[in-house]
Amino acid sequence: MALLTWNEKFSVQVRQFDDEHKQLIALVNQLHDAMKMGQGKQVVGDILRGLISYTRNHFASEERLMKSHGYPEYEKHKKEHNQLTLSVLDLQKEYDAGNAPLSQSVMAFLKDWLTNHIQGMDKGYGPFLNGKGIK
Ligand code: FEO
Repeated sequence: MALLTWNEKFSVQVRQFDDEHKQLIALVNQLHDAMKMGQGKQVVGDILRGLISYTRNHFASEERLMKSHGYPEYEKHKKEHNQLTLSVLDLQKEYDAGNAPLSQSVMAFLKDWLTNHIQGMDKGYGPFLNGKGIK
């Protein structure tokens, strides 16, 4: 069973970002499945790297659009992106060093991270960007 399923509660009312969030959720689910199936370090490490890379591109896309339209919460949002990125990079470092297997608690962290950020901060820009004609 998937760890996370996208539904309307995740919608930020901007199609590009809904699509990107769906992809992020798919990558977290892929990581969860690989871990549960006991896939080796190489496979899990590759998925983790893919997730981090996709996340960074996604954060950069949101930041570009928020900034170019003068979104008032831009700085706050960017700060949260930076903190989330650092947390995941730490996790990757530990994983690559072989100190920490990707445990259920790591998956719970990723799940909370995605859910809280999308349903919190991200939802905030929807009405603002919609008002600028972005849907
Ligand atoms: Fe969808 Fe602010 O990340």
